[in-house]
Amino acid sequence: MRVAAILLAAGQGSRYSAQTATSVAKQYVTLGGRPVIRHAADALAPHVGIIQPVGDPVLLGSALEGFTPSGCTVLPVVPGGDTRQASVRAGLDALDRLPESARPELVLIHDGARPYVPGSVTQGVIAALEQHAGVIPAVPVADTIKRAKNGIITDTVPRTDLFRAQTPQGFRFALLRDLHRGATAADATDDAALLEQAGHHVAIVPGSEDNIKLTYKEDLVRLERLIGPTLLPRTG
Ligand code: CTP
Ligand code: MG
Repeated sequence: MRVAAILLAAGQGSRYSAQTATSVAKQYVTLGGRPVIRHAADALAPHVGIIQPVGDPVLLGSALEGFTPSGCTVLPVVPGGDTRQASVRAGLDALDRLPESARPELVLIHDGARPYVPGSVTQGVIAALEQHAGVIPAVPVADTIKRAKNGIITDTVPRTDLFRAQTPQGFRFALLRDLHRGATAADATDDAALLEQAGHHVAIVPGSEDNIKLTYKEDLVRLERLIGPTLLPRTG
């Protein structure tokens, strides 16, 4: 089956930037000599035939300069939208414009801010797409979760049913494209939610604790341990 990946890098990284003095969006922070987004691209390339990057054509184009993985076509960058959902849609529309013979049957949607996704996680998602229309990697929630109102606990949520969703999330391409076209402007925080709302089953496969999304400064410390030091000056 033809598998494409949409690599999302059109976000502002506002939570990260609010904590740091860096002016570049978090996906362009350099870790171990390469931008975060480039690590994410490197991690996906061995598993897919096409990568569609979504983000600022100049910034993302230069972060991916010289990225010519063997056996994987890297399409020209397309600009994203104001929401993650709009950025996914831009990537899906670009893939849909490919000639029928090149259009993917399966699509992975990956956060460009997750530079260290293990190959086994990506492979697990692709393998499970043989049985399911949608598949996400996730890890069980380890902490006890409380629901509270005005600072007072109302109940304890059984954690055996709870998972933290990661990416890449995988889907049958035509199904996800059609759901996005029918979706309202309200932003779904992930693509699995669009399938769930439409009554499709979405399966969970094992994610990884190393599949960290750079969201806050603390995440950078953990990623530096896995990948290498950041070259940008940081405060705090
Ligand atoms: N993303 C995107 N287009 C958007 C918003 C997000 O392509 N309009 C991408 C981000 O670049 C990131 C991924 O979606 O790779 C996950 O989103 P998140 O971690 O929330 O990143 P940001 O939206 O950039 O960060 P923040 O929410 O802190 O502003
Ligand atoms: Mg965001």
